[in-house]
Amino acid sequence: MKRSRIIEILSSGKPGDQFTVMGWVRTRRDSKGGFSFIEVNDGSCLSCIQIIADGKLKNYEDQILKLATGCSVKAVGILAASPGKGQNVELHAEEFEVLGWADPGSYPLQKKRHSFEFLREIAHLRPRTNTFGAVARIRNSISYAIHTFFQKRGFIYIHTPIITGSDCEGAGEMFKVTTFDLDQIPKKEGHTDFNKDFFGNPATLTVSGQLEAEVYALSMGDVYTFGPTFRAENSNTSRHLSEFWMVEPEMAFCDLEGNISIAVEFLKFIFDYILSNCNEDMEFFKKFIDKTVIETLENLISQDFEVLTYTDGIKLLEKANVKFEFPVNWGTDLQSEHERYLCENVFKKPIVLIDYPKEIKAFYMKLNSDGKTVRAMDVLVPKIGEIIGGSQREDDYNTLVERIREMNLDPDDYWWYLDLRKYGSVPHSGFGLGFERLIQFVTGMANIRDVIPFPRTPGNVRF
Ligand code: 4AD
Ligand code: MG
Repeated sequence: MKRSRIIEILSSGKPGDQFTVMGWVRTRRDSKGGFSFIEVNDGSCLSCIQIIADGKLKNYEDQILKLATGCSVKAVGILAASPGKGQNVELHAEEFEVLGWADPGSYPLQKKRHSFEFLREIAHLRPRTNTFGAVARIRNSISYAIHTFFQKRGFIYIHTPIITGSDCEGAGEMFKVTTFDLDQIPKKEGHTDFNKDFFGNPATLTVSGQLEAEVYALSMGDVYTFGPTFRAENSNTSRHLSEFWMVEPEMAFCDLEGNISIAVEFLKFIFDYILSNCNEDMEFFKKFIDKTVIETLENLISQDFEVLTYTDGIKLLEKANVKFEFPVNWGTDLQSEHERYLCENVFKKPIVLIDYPKEIKAFYMKLNSDGKTVRAMDVLVPKIGEIIGGSQREDDYNTLVERIREMNLDPDDYWWYLDLRKYGSVPHSGFGLGFERLIQFVTGMANIRDVIPFPRTPGNVRF
């Protein structure tokens, strides 16, 4: 089945050329002159191609006049300049075939605009809408930009494991992986007998590929991992998913300042890539989702990000003349309302907050000489809050063992991670970018459930 994609026909087709189009009908309009206009989309771009189906086609009465939204079709025809409004070219069909019918009585997607809540219930059909098609193409383009950025700079792509035996964040928010019959779990002295489980040890889905990325950074220099991560945290917000994708670079011989530079350069590269390559979809988001998206990205590319310490951030929040839902003082973790206040009201641009209290950050972050704060960095952006979390890593063996104990974790569980500090330790740093939060930021989509094909959230894994 040879076909041309609509994006190629619209960008480089010449009037007089013959093309075969295959796609899904968006609308059909019949003219009094005895022919029909059929708008077809194939997902290759936002635009549809207009197909002119003449009354003389042999299946005109029987089939074409019955076409409804959602039917799949094949049309072979000649491209011609279009006299009508809204498109430059149209395809005059010489042959027209219906590949699959869609009963208008039951097909859930109709011409009207559906709510995003409704569309989440039909995640198997929503990519046929303009919004979800555009989100899928932007996701694809950002993925490509991410690989391009790192590959151009000589980073090596590492495939860190999905199933793991260690808790990277030490927060215990992990999904268990087991083949036990949950009604008959083998016990030994009152506890689950993991010796009898599939792996012979407790296993979980990874919350981050960082620890394994560090292994490779400490042998290959600059690496990155980009894959799915899983968190069993009961957060029902517009920026949390139970399954999300994370991009995690890890650099040997790199301190916090180097880490910040790479993170900022990385974000700007992606924004620039999207503005240069995804014009049609970005104009769509600007028109229908958020008027400011393009302008925001353009401004960001030319702006410096504000770097300030957590301590200074807290001072600004304490001085703020607004009522926060969650109170702030030195030592508390920032909520998204605080992060957004700093970005949107104080600095009016993205900020990088560094040197957080050690109690609210993970065990692996490098301890500052004050003994109280760690070399953490969170990149915060307007509307979303935290988009990147990272740090310089603790590279001193004894300090790391102590930090693991302080966080009530068991150094034995991290024996291999500690070995990296025993044998050839070097200063190193890295960060994790929440891929879906980035897509939200770029597109202006308000809910994270609408920027991943099949969202998993507490209480929801329907598809
Ligand atoms: O700040 P986090 O927890 O950092 C880490 O996991 C580090 N191990 C990363 C590293 O240094 N290699 O998560 C990183 C980012 C957050 O800034 C946020 O953008 C995103 O991942 N994120 C989530 N995105 C969607 N749903 C969730 N539940 C998320 N939790 C974190
Ligand atoms: Mg974080």
